Amino acid sequence: MAQGSSPYTKGAPRHVAIVMDGNGRWAERRGKLRLSGHNAGMNAMTEIVRHASDSGVEYLTVYAFSTENWKRSEDEVSGIFGLLVKFVELKLRELVDNDVVVSVIGDYSSIPKDAKAALERTIADTSACTGMRFIIALGYGSRADILNAARKLALDVVDSGGDAAARLARLTESDFAAKLSTSGVPDPDLVIRTSGEKRLSNFLLWESAYSEFVFTDVLWPDFTPAEFDRCVAEYNGRERRYGGRG
Ligand code: IPE
Ligand code: IPE
Ligand code: MG
Repeated sequence: MAQGSSPYTKGAPRHVAIVMDGNGRWAERRGKLRLSGHNAGMNAMTEIVRHASDSGVEYLTVYAFSTENWKRSEDEVSGIFGLLVKFVELKLRELVDNDVVVSVIGDYSSIPKDAKAALERTIADTSACTGMRFIIALGYGSRADILNAARKLALDVVDSGGDAAARLARLTESDFAAKLSTSGVPDPDLVIRTSGEKRLSNFLLWESAYSEFVFTDVLWPDFTPAEFDRCVAEYNGRERRYGGRG
């Protein structure tokens, strides 16, 4: 990139969240199976993890598999998890070398055993890293997460006894956020969605209240570090106002 045109002149966005969409269409356009699109998508994800980490992003969250994606064919679902195992096993060394901490949000209890084991190994082996936090949303759905948070809060209130109505009245947005799976992670500054679709599809509904959205027509397997930088540049051209006026 030419000097002076860095998209990071305002610094890197602290938290970037990505809806990695378009793997299927990428494959279809090449007359290939959908799974080869998911494979190419894993390669794109590897590049973006490295690039985001090198660029000073502190948190990178990727939407890898939604609660609704369980509706897809058994072949596609098991293929996606097979690729995930391959990704974490092949890339573990590189993640550790880049000091990346891996974590997962979502309910991945029902994913295939080997995928679960590989993920848990990766989480454990990167837990001592101190660099970028790479958060994989897997079996994730924001509505389920919000409902879960409400349940946990309600249980706390019941367990604490006393005047439940008074306790409920005192609850703050921070109390609620602390029960979400994203607890402790700052809200995303920038949400990117690839493939030309302009919706959230149940991703980070609570957390993206004041995020900036950048939509690109690029299909996820074609998403490059240069395209990432273009999205950051678009983000840096925005004025974030949070409802207030100077
Ligand atoms: C995104 O690509 C990956 C997952 C949802 C797992 P898609 O598989 O949704 O690709 P399109 O939208 O069909 O092109
Ligand atoms: C969102 O993409 C989920 C992921 C990228 C993992 P989808 O392809 O599942 O979303 P819709 O169906 O187009 O809304
Ligand atoms: Mg899609």
